[in-house]
Amino acid sequence: MYLATSSLMLDILFLFIIFGKASSQYFYNNPQFDNFVSKISETIKCTENYQLPINNNEYFGNSDSNLEAKDYGIFDFIIIGAGTAGGVIANRLLEISNFTVLLVEAGKEDPEISKVLGLGPNMILSDSNWGYNFTKNNNSCLGSINQKCLYPRGKGLGGSSSINVGFYARGKAEDYDRWETLGNNGWSYKDSLPYFKKSEKAKFSVDIDRKFHGFDGVQPIDIPEDSILTKELINAFKELGKTEGDYNGYDQYKIGRPQFYLDYNTRASTAHSFIRPILNKSNLNITLESYVSKIHITGNTANGIEFWKRGVKYSARATKEVILCAGAINSPQILMLSGIGPKSELQKFGINPVADLPVGLNMKDHVFHSSLFYRFNNIFYDGDLNENLNRWRLNKRPLTPGFNLEAVTYYNSQNLSDVEVLVIGPTGISPKMGSVLGFNEDYRKSFEVVNETSDIAIFVVLLQPFSTGKVSLQSADPRDFPLIDGNYFSDERDLEALYTVIQQLLKLNTTKSFERIGAKQYMVALPDCDGIYAQFSKEWWFCNLRYTGFAGYHACGTTRMGTNPKESVVNPHLKVHGFRNLRVIDAGVMPTIVRGHTNAAVVMIAEKGADFIKNEHL
Ligand SMILES: Cc1cc2nc3c(=O)[nH]c(=O)nc-3n(C[C@H](O)[C@H](O)[C@H](O)COP(=O)(O)OP(=O)(O)OC[C@H]3O[C@@H](n4cnc5c(N)ncnc54)[C@H](O)[C@@H]3O)c2cc1C
Ligand SMILES: *[C@@H]1O[C@H](CO)[C@@H](O)[C@H](O)[C@H]1NC(C)=O
Ligand SMILES: *[C@@H]1O[C@H](CO)[C@@H](O)[C@H](O)[C@H]1NC(C)=O
Ligand SMILES: *[C@@H]1O[C@H](CO)[C@@H](O)[C@H](O)[C@H]1NC(C)=O
Ligand SMILES: *[C@@H]1O[C@H](CO)[C@@H](O)[C@H](O)[C@H]1NC(C)=O
Ligand SMILES: *[C@@H]1O[C@H](CO)[C@@H](O)[C@H](O)[C@H]1NC(C)=O
Ligand SMILES: *[C@@H]1O[C@H](CO)[C@@H](O)[C@H](O)[C@H]1NC(C)=O
Ligand SMILES: *[C@@H]1O[C@H](CO)[C@@H](O)[C@H](O)[C@H]1NC(C)=O
Ligand SMILES: *[C@@H]1O[C@H](CO)[C@@H](O)[C@H](O)[C@H]1NC(C)=O
Repeated sequence: MYLATSSLMLDILFLFIIFGKASSQYFYNNPQFDNFVSKISETIKCTENYQLPINNNEYFGNSDSNLEAKDYGIFDFIIIGAGTAGGVIANRLLEISNFTVLLVEAGKEDPEISKVLGLGPNMILSDSNWGYNFTKNNNSCLGSINQKCLYPRGKGLGGSSSINVGFYARGKAEDYDRWETLGNNGWSYKDSLPYFKKSEKAKFSVDIDRKFHGFDGVQPIDIPEDSILTKELINAFKELGKTEGDYNGYDQYKIGRPQFYLDYNTRASTAHSFIRPILNKSNLNITLESYVSKIHITGNTANGIEFWKRGVKYSARATKEVILCAGAINSPQILMLSGIGPKSELQKFGINPVADLPVGLNMKDHVFHSSLFYRFNNIFYDGDLNENLNRWRLNKRPLTPGFNLEAVTYYNSQNLSDVEVLVIGPTGISPKMGSVLGFNEDYRKSFEVVNETSDIAIFVVLLQPFSTGKVSLQSADPRDFPLIDGNYFSDERDLEALYTVIQQLLKLNTTKSFERIGAKQYMVALPDCDGIYAQFSKEWWFCNLRYTGFAGYHACGTTRMGTNPKESVVNPHLKVHGFRNLRVIDAGVMPTIVRGHTNAAVVMIAEKGADFIKNEHL
């Protein structure tokens, strides 16, 4: 014990020497890197005054919707959206030199800042985000501006994989087995695992359950170097009964180091791993800044699409398939604008229904909460942007992982939802976190006590909510944003699940490991709960969760897969029920939400979907 303590003290002392003032060792003279740093500073500066759009007018200019469309040509396949799924599909289809593909993406190329996972939150206030919010709700998001949680979605090459946290977590084997049990033959974990492995290029050697990983894929997955805290943070969970290991392996409930989409230090988004390598293929035509407003349908056949780019309307035709990969929010909108959706909903807006399907319903998402904070007597990272990027260049924290994540584990609460626990390292949280999360002035202020250089936080994530949300139309006008009703915590069992796991986590500050590293627990002020309910009482935690719980950005289920068209939108081959050649391949098709983060599941779904398409057309 004494030894452990003193060696840690030495480490910390050592750290001070390195970071304290001698940090210039990280800097080097290289005009290209200087240029990279200044581009990133510029991008961050732009976020300060950036106003997110409130509609899609930018694509339409002053043009009349009835404008005659210009012909954009004929292709075998049209893919709508170059996001996580769309990028994978494009890459795999272009392996067939005979196929011609049109890839249509509303956003621009992913910017330089996207390379750095730890700077991801800066992209929320930029044109890489669609800019949605939830509709107002009385059960959740109560501490957000207008009681509406922010709901970022990636826009641009790579879609949400270019702005996300980059954390790699597939969920449990049972999640996929359940898809199969629900009638989706071929989607069990046994059938899905080869597709997880297909894209993965695992580069880490600690905490790895090798049988469950792929090593020859195109998408690198890695674990960042340990910080001086990592070991003790993991030890604390071991004291509480966890064993150390790979949460993407046989047993998800282990405590382990988080795995990331990382190619050395660089974000391995879909843009990086799947799209950029195919950009110069002659059978690909990619059009950016192009907003798809409709799929052309005759009978049971999708013939092509309509899209808008800089005030010009285009139409393009597909001879084989139209593949919708616009994500769990936008794919439902495009389907509904094309006449595929709940009949009554379509008629309400004067849209002629071509198929009555439960599009937009059954939205499931994860809910996050920053439950517990700890402060240390040390400054772990006090570098400015320049220093942190110079450290990043050498593949050193804090910016290599998203949120400077240190550890992850999972709790099973029996008949309630499973809960994920994320340990966020210094700089992963900051005094600005309330504003990044869109909290109102009261709660922005509460979170200003957070010290970026010396604090860590424990986040909890509700993984299988009973509450169900919905995506619907605001109008029949493609200029309008869709409406997103997150509807978190409308079922109290969801609060109960988080509360139960938080009770376990409160034991962290009684562990020897936390004592050794000098972690002091503190709570942020909750003006609507403190003094009204006894601190740490169940009512107080429920109040805390309703005010400061925030969106997980893992929407799925809005075009879910199944065999019954009353309850699902696509069949187990991802074809829209009743249509010959129209598929949806994105997060929306998940029949039930997975107990991981969603990007890995989406890549797997897209890998499998690409094989369905090839099998049908080769
Ligand atoms: C901030 C944030 C953090 C996240 N963190 C993680 C994480 O750490 N780990 C994880 O596993 N998951 C994470 N996720 C979730 C994960 O990124 C998504 O589940 C996944 O990217 C969804 O993939 P998709 O293909 O369904 O949609 P997307 O990747 O969102 O792709 C949809 C694409 O379609 C384009 N598009 C949409 N509508 C149109 C249109 N009308 N015309 C043309 N193009 C259109 C969009 O611009 C976008 O490029 C996060 C998400 C966000 C937003
Ligand atoms: C979303 O909410 C933010 C405030 O949090 C606001 O600035 C923005 O305009 C809202 N966007 C829409 C589309 O309502
Ligand atoms: C893509 O198609 C458009 C419209 O037909 C055409 O103008 C453009 O040259 C094509 N681009 C490529 C790279 O083939
Ligand atoms: C490519 O297309 C040609 C003509 O349609 C066909 O003969 C050939 O078999 C195709 N090749 C592949 C690999 O599909
Ligand atoms: C929220 O509660 C208020 C007051 O009880 C009520 O007027 C309002 O309709 C509710 N809003 C929603 C979205 O349920
Ligand atoms: C671009 O195409 C050429 C051959 O046409 C190929 O050698 C090169 O590797 C390609 N670049 C990328 C990034 O794929
Ligand atoms: C969950 O199970 C426990 C014990 O079996 C029971 O007491 C509790 O009421 C159940 N809760 C719910 C929400 O079903
Ligand atoms: C954060 O903590 C460090 C170390 O205790 C301290 O030096 C620094 O002043 C604190 N910063 C703020 C903004 O309180
Ligand atoms: C745990 O944290 C609280 C502050 O939230 C503190 O009052 C308490 O003394 C701590 N317990 C231990 C054992 O450190």
